[in-house]
Amino acid sequence: MPEQFAPQSVLVTGGAGFIGSNFIHSFISRNPGCRVVNLDILTYAGNLENLKGVEENPDYRFVRGDIGDAGLVSRLLAEFRIDAVVHFAAESHVDRSITGPEIFVRTNVLGTQVLLEESRRHWQAGVVPAFRFLQVSTDEVYGSLGDTGFFTEETPLAANSPYSASKAGADLLVRAYYETFGMPTLNTRCSNNYGPYHFPEKLIPLMISNIIGRRPLPVYGDGLNVRDWLHVKDHSIAIETVLKGGKPGQVFNIGGNNEWKNIDIVNLVCDLLDGKLGRQPGENRKLITFVKDRPGHDRRYAIDASKMRRELGWEPSYTFEKGIAETIDWYLANQEWVEHVTSGGYREYYEKQYGER
Ligand code: NAD
Ligand code: TYD
Repeated sequence: MPEQFAPQSVLVTGGAGFIGSNFIHSFISRNPGCRVVNLDILTYAGNLENLKGVEENPDYRFVRGDIGDAGLVSRLLAEFRIDAVVHFAAESHVDRSITGPEIFVRTNVLGTQVLLEESRRHWQAGVVPAFRFLQVSTDEVYGSLGDTGFFTEETPLAANSPYSASKAGADLLVRAYYETFGMPTLNTRCSNNYGPYHFPEKLIPLMISNIIGRRPLPVYGDGLNVRDWLHVKDHSIAIETVLKGGKPGQVFNIGGNNEWKNIDIVNLVCDLLDGKLGRQPGENRKLITFVKDRPGHDRRYAIDASKMRRELGWEPSYTFEKGIAETIDWYLANQEWVEHVTSGGYREYYEKQYGER
Protein backbone atom coordinates (compact mmCIF):
# COMPACT_ATOMS: atom_id res chain seq x y z
CA MET A 1 0.00 0.00 0.00
CA PRO A 2 1.24 3.54 -0.74
CA GLU A 3 2.24 5.86 2.09
CA GLN A 4 -0.84 7.09 3.96
CA PHE A 5 -1.80 10.74 4.34
CA ALA A 6 -3.46 11.32 7.73
CA PRO A 7 -5.76 14.37 7.58
CA GLN A 8 -6.41 16.28 10.81
CA SER A 9 -8.93 18.87 9.63
CA VAL A 10 -11.07 18.34 6.55
CA LEU A 11 -13.19 20.88 4.69
CA VAL A 12 -16.10 19.00 3.10
CA THR A 13 -18.08 21.04 0.58
CA GLY A 14 -21.68 20.09 -0.20
CA GLY A 15 -21.87 17.92 2.90
CA ALA A 16 -25.62 18.41 3.27
CA GLY A 17 -26.34 16.71 -0.06
CA PHE A 18 -26.79 13.03 -0.81
CA ILE A 19 -23.22 11.76 -1.11
CA GLY A 20 -21.62 14.46 1.05
CA SER A 21 -23.83 13.66 4.04
CA ASN A 22 -23.24 9.92 3.68
CA PHE A 23 -19.51 10.64 3.46
CA ILE A 24 -19.58 12.73 6.65
CA HIS A 25 -21.45 10.00 8.60
CA SER A 26 -18.94 7.44 7.40
CA PHE A 27 -15.78 9.56 7.80
CA ILE A 28 -16.61 10.87 11.28
CA SER A 29 -17.30 7.41 12.61
CA ARG A 30 -14.11 6.00 11.08
CA ASN A 31 -11.79 8.93 11.98
CA PRO A 32 -12.47 10.09 15.54
CA GLY A 33 -10.54 13.23 16.44
CA CYS A 34 -10.31 14.48 12.85
CA ARG A 35 -12.20 17.76 12.46
CA VAL A 36 -14.83 17.98 9.71
CA VAL A 37 -16.03 21.40 8.57
CA ASN A 38 -19.06 21.17 6.29
CA LEU A 39 -19.45 24.15 3.93
CA ASP A 40 -22.82 24.04 2.19
CA ILE A 41 -25.03 26.79 0.82
CA LEU A 42 -28.16 24.62 1.22
CA THR A 43 -29.72 24.67 -2.23
CA TYR A 44 -32.91 22.66 -2.75
CA ALA A 45 -30.67 19.56 -2.57
CA GLY A 46 -28.95 20.43 0.70
CA ASN A 47 -30.74 19.16 3.76
CA LEU A 48 -29.39 19.30 7.30
CA GLU A 49 -31.81 16.57 8.31
CA ASN A 50 -29.35 14.26 6.53
CA LEU A 51 -26.82 15.04 9.25
CA LYS A 52 -28.88 14.30 12.34
CA GLY A 53 -26.66 12.32 14.65
CA VAL A 54 -23.41 14.06 13.72
CA GLU A 55 -24.41 17.60 14.62
CA GLU A 56 -23.59 17.14 18.31
CA ASN A 57 -20.21 15.58 17.55
CA PRO A 58 -17.46 17.95 18.79
CA ASP A 59 -15.37 17.14 15.68
CA TYR A 60 -18.11 18.49 13.39
CA ARG A 61 -18.89 22.08 12.33
CA PHE A 62 -21.47 23.32 9.85
CA VAL A 63 -21.01 26.60 7.96
CA ARG A 64 -23.67 27.82 5.61
CA GLY A 65 -22.00 29.51 2.65
CA ASP A 66 -20.99 29.50 -0.99
CA ILE A 67 -17.91 27.74 -2.35
CA GLY A 68 -17.68 30.73 -4.71
CA ASP A 69 -17.19 33.16 -1.81
CA ALA A 70 -13.39 33.53 -1.82
CA GLY A 71 -13.25 35.49 1.45
CA LEU A 72 -15.27 32.87 3.32
CA VAL A 73 -13.31 29.95 1.88
CA SER A 74 -10.00 31.61 2.70
CA ARG A 75 -11.13 32.33 6.26
CA LEU A 76 -12.27 28.73 6.84
CA LEU A 77 -9.05 27.25 5.45
CA ALA A 78 -6.96 29.42 7.79
CA GLU A 79 -9.19 29.34 10.90
CA PHE A 80 -9.55 25.57 10.94
CA ARG A 81 -6.02 24.83 9.67
CA ILE A 82 -7.58 22.71 6.94
CA ASP A 83 -5.24 20.08 5.51
CA ALA A 84 -7.72 18.37 3.15
CA VAL A 85 -10.58 19.62 0.98
CA VAL A 86 -13.10 17.02 -0.16
CA HIS A 87 -15.18 18.77 -2.78
CA PHE A 88 -18.71 17.47 -3.35
CA ALA A 89 -20.63 20.76 -3.72
CA ALA A 90 -22.29 20.92 -7.11
CA GLU A 91 -25.46 21.16 -9.05
CA SER A 92 -25.93 17.47 -9.75
CA HIS A 93 -29.08 16.74 -11.75
CA VAL A 94 -28.79 16.28 -15.53
CA ASP A 95 -32.44 17.19 -16.22
CA ARG A 96 -32.08 20.50 -14.38
CA SER A 97 -28.91 21.25 -16.37
CA ILE A 98 -30.90 20.95 -19.59
CA THR A 99 -33.51 23.49 -18.52
CA GLY A 100 -31.10 25.81 -16.65
CA PRO A 101 -27.39 25.32 -17.40
CA GLU A 102 -26.12 28.65 -16.06
CA ILE A 103 -26.06 27.72 -12.37
CA PHE A 104 -24.17 24.54 -13.31
CA VAL A 105 -21.33 26.59 -14.77
CA ARG A 106 -21.43 29.05 -11.88
CA THR A 107 -21.29 26.41 -9.13
CA ASN A 108 -19.45 23.53 -10.74
CA VAL A 109 -16.86 25.43 -12.78
CA LEU A 110 -16.47 28.87 -11.20
CA GLY A 111 -17.11 27.61 -7.66
CA THR A 112 -14.45 24.92 -8.09
CA GLN A 113 -12.01 27.51 -9.44
CA VAL A 114 -12.47 29.69 -6.34
CA LEU A 115 -11.95 26.69 -4.06
CA LEU A 116 -8.82 25.69 -5.98
CA GLU A 117 -7.36 29.18 -5.92
CA GLU A 118 -7.96 29.71 -2.20
CA SER A 119 -6.63 26.21 -1.52
CA ARG A 120 -3.49 27.01 -3.50
CA ARG A 121 -2.83 30.17 -1.46
CA HIS A 122 -3.44 28.29 1.79
CA TRP A 123 -1.26 25.34 0.77
CA GLN A 124 1.56 27.61 -0.44
CA ALA A 125 1.42 29.62 2.81
CA GLY A 126 2.69 26.41 4.42
CA VAL A 127 0.63 26.61 7.62
CA VAL A 128 -0.16 22.90 7.44
CA PRO A 129 2.56 20.28 6.99
CA ALA A 130 0.71 18.41 4.22
CA PHE A 131 -2.33 19.16 2.06
CA ARG A 132 -4.70 17.38 -0.37
CA PHE A 133 -7.53 18.64 -2.58
CA LEU A 134 -9.92 15.90 -3.69
CA GLN A 135 -12.39 16.63 -6.49
CA VAL A 136 -15.41 14.30 -6.43
CA SER A 137 -16.49 13.78 -10.02
CA THR A 138 -18.51 11.51 -12.22
CA ASP A 139 -18.11 8.92 -14.98
CA GLU A 140 -20.43 11.15 -17.05
CA VAL A 141 -17.42 13.30 -18.03
CA TYR A 142 -16.38 10.44 -20.34
CA GLY A 143 -19.58 10.64 -22.42
CA SER A 144 -21.48 7.58 -23.55
CA LEU A 145 -20.49 3.97 -24.33
CA GLY A 146 -21.91 1.55 -26.90
CA ASP A 147 -22.92 -1.99 -25.95
CA THR A 148 -19.40 -2.99 -24.90
CA GLY A 149 -16.30 -1.55 -23.23
CA PHE A 150 -15.58 0.39 -20.06
CA PHE A 151 -14.40 3.87 -19.10
CA THR A 152 -10.81 3.81 -17.85
CA GLU A 153 -8.88 6.73 -16.37
CA GLU A 154 -7.35 7.21 -19.85
CA THR A 155 -10.67 7.53 -21.68
CA PRO A 156 -10.82 11.02 -23.23
CA LEU A 157 -13.34 13.45 -21.75
CA ALA A 158 -16.41 13.74 -24.01
CA ALA A 159 -19.15 15.18 -21.81
CA ASN A 160 -22.57 15.44 -23.45
CA SER A 161 -24.89 17.23 -21.00
CA PRO A 162 -24.43 20.68 -19.50
CA TYR A 163 -24.04 18.92 -16.12
CA SER A 164 -21.27 16.62 -17.28
CA ALA A 165 -19.60 19.41 -19.28
CA SER A 166 -19.46 21.55 -16.13
CA LYS A 167 -17.96 18.64 -14.15
CA ALA A 168 -15.41 18.02 -16.94
CA GLY A 169 -14.49 21.72 -16.85
CA ALA A 170 -13.91 21.47 -13.11
CA ASP A 171 -11.87 18.26 -13.50
CA LEU A 172 -9.60 20.00 -16.00
CA LEU A 173 -9.08 22.92 -13.63
CA VAL A 174 -8.11 20.43 -10.92
CA ARG A 175 -5.62 18.87 -13.33
CA ALA A 176 -4.31 22.34 -14.20
CA TYR A 177 -3.63 23.16 -10.53
CA TYR A 178 -1.56 20.00 -10.25
CA GLU A 179 0.31 20.48 -13.54
CA THR A 180 0.84 24.23 -13.18
CA PHE A 181 1.37 24.74 -9.45
CA GLY A 182 2.18 21.23 -8.27
CA MET A 183 -0.75 21.42 -5.86
CA PRO A 184 -1.50 17.93 -4.49
CA THR A 185 -4.87 17.25 -6.11
CA LEU A 186 -6.80 14.02 -6.53
CA ASN A 187 -9.74 13.37 -8.83
CA THR A 188 -12.29 10.59 -8.38
CA ARG A 189 -14.87 9.71 -11.05
CA CYS A 190 -17.69 7.54 -9.84
CA SER A 191 -20.66 5.82 -11.41
CA ASN A 192 -24.30 6.31 -10.32
CA ASN A 193 -24.80 6.11 -6.55
CA TYR A 194 -27.83 4.88 -4.65
CA GLY A 195 -28.69 4.65 -0.95
CA PRO A 196 -30.16 6.71 1.89
CA TYR A 197 -30.69 10.51 1.68
CA HIS A 198 -30.94 10.42 -2.14
CA PHE A 199 -33.13 13.29 -3.35
CA PRO A 200 -36.24 11.86 -5.04
CA GLU A 201 -35.61 13.52 -8.40
CA LYS A 202 -33.07 10.82 -9.31
CA LEU A 203 -34.18 7.50 -10.78
CA ILE A 204 -34.14 5.08 -7.83
CA PRO A 205 -35.56 7.30 -5.05
CA LEU A 206 -38.10 8.82 -7.46
CA MET A 207 -39.39 5.37 -8.37
CA ILE A 208 -39.56 4.25 -4.72
CA SER A 209 -41.39 7.36 -3.66
CA ASN A 210 -43.82 7.29 -6.61
CA ILE A 211 -44.59 3.61 -6.06
CA ILE A 212 -45.38 4.24 -2.40
CA GLY A 213 -47.70 7.11 -3.45
CA ARG A 214 -49.16 5.08 -6.39
CA ARG A 215 -48.02 7.76 -8.84
CA PRO A 216 -46.84 7.11 -12.45
CA LEU A 217 -43.25 5.92 -12.93
CA PRO A 218 -41.74 7.94 -15.81
CA VAL A 219 -39.25 5.85 -17.79
CA TYR A 220 -37.38 7.90 -20.39
CA GLY A 221 -37.28 6.69 -24.01
CA ASP A 222 -37.14 2.90 -24.44
CA GLY A 223 -35.84 2.32 -20.90
CA LEU A 224 -32.80 0.48 -22.24
CA ASN A 225 -30.16 3.00 -21.15
CA VAL A 226 -27.60 1.40 -18.86
CA ARG A 227 -26.11 2.74 -15.62
CA ASP A 228 -23.53 1.13 -13.30
CA TRP A 229 -24.86 1.42 -9.72
CA LEU A 230 -22.72 1.71 -6.58
CA HIS A 231 -23.92 1.95 -2.99
CA VAL A 232 -23.12 5.38 -1.55
CA LYS A 233 -21.43 3.82 1.50
CA ASP A 234 -18.97 2.04 -0.79
CA HIS A 235 -18.36 5.34 -2.59
CA SER A 236 -17.73 7.10 0.74
CA ILE A 237 -15.06 4.60 1.71
CA ALA A 238 -13.53 4.77 -1.76
CA ILE A 239 -13.15 8.56 -1.43
CA GLU A 240 -11.54 8.22 1.99
CA THR A 241 -9.20 5.58 0.54
CA VAL A 242 -8.14 7.86 -2.31
CA LEU A 243 -7.72 10.84 0.04
CA LYS A 244 -5.37 8.88 2.28
CA GLY A 245 -3.52 6.71 -0.24
CA GLY A 246 -3.96 8.14 -3.73
CA LYS A 247 -0.94 9.57 -5.52
CA PRO A 248 -1.41 13.32 -6.10
CA GLY A 249 -2.13 14.36 -9.67
CA GLN A 250 -4.01 11.16 -10.44
CA VAL A 251 -7.54 10.20 -11.44
CA PHE A 252 -9.33 7.21 -9.88
CA ASN A 253 -12.42 5.62 -11.42
CA ILE A 254 -14.89 4.21 -8.89
CA GLY A 255 -17.68 1.85 -9.85
CA GLY A 256 -19.76 -1.07 -8.75
CA ASN A 257 -19.32 -3.40 -11.73
CA ASN A 258 -23.09 -3.52 -11.56
CA GLU A 259 -24.75 -2.57 -14.84
CA TRP A 260 -28.52 -2.34 -15.11
CA LYS A 261 -30.89 -1.25 -17.83
CA ASN A 262 -33.22 1.39 -16.41
CA ILE A 263 -36.35 -0.63 -17.11
CA ASP A 264 -34.91 -3.67 -15.32
CA ILE A 265 -34.16 -1.61 -12.25
CA VAL A 266 -37.64 -0.07 -12.28
CA ASN A 267 -39.21 -3.53 -12.60
CA LEU A 268 -37.07 -4.82 -9.73
CA VAL A 269 -38.02 -1.94 -7.43
CA CYS A 270 -41.70 -2.45 -8.38
CA ASP A 271 -41.56 -6.15 -7.56
CA LEU A 272 -39.70 -5.72 -4.26
CA LEU A 273 -42.21 -3.10 -3.20
CA ASP A 274 -45.17 -5.30 -4.18
CA GLY A 275 -43.93 -7.66 -1.47
CA LYS A 276 -42.99 -5.03 1.12
CA LEU A 277 -46.26 -3.08 0.70
CA GLY A 278 -48.46 -6.20 0.58
CA ARG A 279 -49.66 -5.44 -2.96
CA GLN A 280 -50.58 -8.02 -5.63
CA PRO A 281 -47.59 -9.34 -7.66
CA GLY A 282 -47.31 -7.12 -10.77
CA GLU A 283 -49.44 -4.33 -9.30
CA ASN A 284 -46.68 -1.72 -9.14
CA ARG A 285 -45.44 -2.41 -12.69
CA LYS A 286 -48.77 -1.07 -13.94
CA LEU A 287 -47.58 2.39 -12.82
CA ILE A 288 -44.72 2.36 -15.40
CA THR A 289 -45.20 5.06 -18.04
CA PHE A 290 -42.79 5.45 -20.94
CA VAL A 291 -42.24 9.16 -21.55
CA LYS A 292 -40.35 11.31 -24.07
CA ASP A 293 -36.61 10.71 -23.93
CA ARG A 294 -34.17 13.10 -22.24
CA PRO A 295 -32.37 15.16 -24.95
CA GLY A 296 -28.80 13.91 -25.47
CA HIS A 297 -29.52 10.95 -23.18
CA ASP A 298 -26.26 8.99 -22.72
CA ARG A 299 -26.87 5.34 -23.64
CA ARG A 300 -24.51 3.47 -21.38
CA TYR A 301 -22.03 4.13 -18.58
CA ALA A 302 -19.71 1.42 -17.25
CA ILE A 303 -16.63 1.92 -15.12
CA ASP A 304 -13.41 -0.03 -15.07
CA ALA A 305 -12.45 0.36 -11.38
CA SER A 306 -9.45 -1.98 -11.53
CA LYS A 307 -6.97 0.80 -10.65
CA MET A 308 -8.76 1.30 -7.32
CA ARG A 309 -8.43 -2.39 -6.56
CA ARG A 310 -4.88 -2.76 -7.83
CA GLU A 311 -3.32 0.37 -6.33
CA LEU A 312 -5.44 1.02 -3.24
CA GLY A 313 -7.01 -2.34 -2.41
CA TRP A 314 -10.56 -0.91 -2.56
CA GLU A 315 -13.55 -2.83 -3.78
CA PRO A 316 -17.27 -2.53 -3.14
CA SER A 317 -18.64 -4.44 -0.18
CA TYR A 318 -22.37 -4.24 -0.97
CA THR A 319 -24.06 -6.69 -3.30
CA PHE A 320 -26.79 -4.93 -5.25
CA GLU A 321 -29.36 -7.35 -3.85
CA LYS A 322 -28.54 -6.29 -0.28
CA GLY A 323 -28.05 -2.60 -1.11
CA ILE A 324 -31.31 -2.11 -2.97
CA ALA A 325 -33.36 -3.97 -0.35
CA GLU A 326 -31.79 -1.88 2.43
CA THR A 327 -32.38 1.31 0.44
CA ILE A 328 -36.06 0.53 -0.09
CA ASP A 329 -36.41 -0.27 3.63
CA TRP A 330 -34.73 3.05 4.46
CA TYR A 331 -37.25 4.97 2.35
CA LEU A 332 -40.15 3.05 3.88
CA ALA A 333 -38.86 3.83 7.37
CA ASN A 334 -38.17 7.49 6.55
CA GLN A 335 -41.39 8.66 4.94
CA GLU A 336 -41.20 11.87 6.94
CA TRP A 337 -37.83 12.68 5.35
CA VAL A 338 -39.31 12.08 1.88
CA GLU A 339 -42.33 14.21 2.75
CA HIS A 340 -40.06 17.02 3.98
CA VAL A 341 -37.83 17.06 0.90
CA THR A 342 -40.73 16.93 -1.52
CA SER A 343 -42.69 19.64 0.29
CA GLY A 344 -39.64 21.78 1.15
CA GLY A 345 -40.55 21.24 4.83
CA TYR A 346 -36.93 20.37 5.67
CA ARG A 347 -36.16 24.09 5.61
CA GLU A 348 -37.99 24.43 8.93
CA TYR A 349 -35.41 22.12 10.47
CA TYR A 350 -32.64 24.50 9.38
CA GLU A 351 -34.48 27.48 10.82
CA LYS A 352 -34.97 25.69 14.14
CA GLN A 353 -31.28 24.74 14.35
CA TYR A 354 -29.63 27.82 12.87
CA GLY A 355 -32.19 30.65 12.76
CA GLU A 356 -33.81 32.39 9.79
CA ARG A 357 -32.39 31.72 6.31
P1 NAD B 1 -26.55 16.71 -4.31
O1 NAD B 1 -27.23 17.55 -5.35
O2 NAD B 1 -27.36 15.76 -3.50
O3 NAD B 1 -25.79 17.66 -3.27
C1 NAD B 1 -25.06 18.79 -3.65
C2 NAD B 1 -24.79 19.63 -2.40
O4 NAD B 1 -23.99 20.76 -2.79
C3 NAD B 1 -26.06 20.19 -1.75
O5 NAD B 1 -26.02 19.99 -0.36
C4 NAD B 1 -26.02 21.67 -2.10
O6 NAD B 1 -26.66 22.49 -1.14
C5 NAD B 1 -24.52 21.92 -2.16
N1 NAD B 1 -24.15 23.09 -2.97
C6 NAD B 1 -24.61 23.40 -4.22
N2 NAD B 1 -24.08 24.57 -4.61
C7 NAD B 1 -23.25 25.01 -3.61
C8 NAD B 1 -22.42 26.14 -3.44
N3 NAD B 1 -22.34 27.08 -4.38
N4 NAD B 1 -21.74 26.27 -2.29
C9 NAD B 1 -21.82 25.33 -1.30
N5 NAD B 1 -22.61 24.23 -1.40
C10 NAD B 1 -23.31 24.08 -2.55
O7 NAD B 1 -25.38 15.97 -5.08
P2 NAD B 1 -24.79 14.50 -4.85
O8 NAD B 1 -25.57 13.54 -5.64
O9 NAD B 1 -24.57 14.29 -3.41
O10 NAD B 1 -23.38 14.66 -5.57
C11 NAD B 1 -22.24 15.14 -4.86
C12 NAD B 1 -21.05 15.20 -5.80
O11 NAD B 1 -20.78 13.90 -6.32
C13 NAD B 1 -21.26 16.11 -7.01
O12 NAD B 1 -20.07 16.81 -7.24
C14 NAD B 1 -21.57 15.14 -8.14
O13 NAD B 1 -21.16 15.66 -9.38
C15 NAD B 1 -20.75 13.94 -7.74
N6 NAD B 1 -21.26 12.62 -8.19
C16 NAD B 1 -22.56 12.26 -7.97
C17 NAD B 1 -23.00 11.00 -8.36
C18 NAD B 1 -24.41 10.53 -8.08
O14 NAD B 1 -24.77 9.42 -8.48
N7 NAD B 1 -25.25 11.30 -7.38
C19 NAD B 1 -22.11 10.12 -8.99
C20 NAD B 1 -20.79 10.54 -9.20
C21 NAD B 1 -20.38 11.79 -8.79
P1 TYD C 1 -30.52 9.91 -13.02
O1 TYD C 1 -30.86 9.29 -11.70
O2 TYD C 1 -31.05 11.27 -13.33
O3 TYD C 1 -28.94 9.87 -13.14
P2 TYD C 1 -27.98 10.20 -14.43
O4 TYD C 1 -28.77 10.82 -15.50
O5 TYD C 1 -27.01 11.16 -13.83
O6 TYD C 1 -27.39 8.89 -14.81
O7 TYD C 1 -31.00 8.93 -14.17
C1 TYD C 1 -30.56 7.58 -14.23
C2 TYD C 1 -31.13 6.98 -15.49
O8 TYD C 1 -32.57 6.89 -15.36
C3 TYD C 1 -30.90 7.83 -16.74
O9 TYD C 1 -30.67 6.96 -17.85
C4 TYD C 1 -32.19 8.60 -16.93
C5 TYD C 1 -33.24 7.63 -16.40
N1 TYD C 1 -34.42 8.25 -15.76
C6 TYD C 1 -35.69 7.85 -16.15
O10 TYD C 1 -35.87 6.99 -17.02
N2 TYD C 1 -36.76 8.42 -15.52
C7 TYD C 1 -36.63 9.38 -14.55
O11 TYD C 1 -37.64 9.89 -14.03
C8 TYD C 1 -35.31 9.77 -14.17
C9 TYD C 1 -35.10 10.83 -13.12
C10 TYD C 1 -34.22 9.18 -14.81
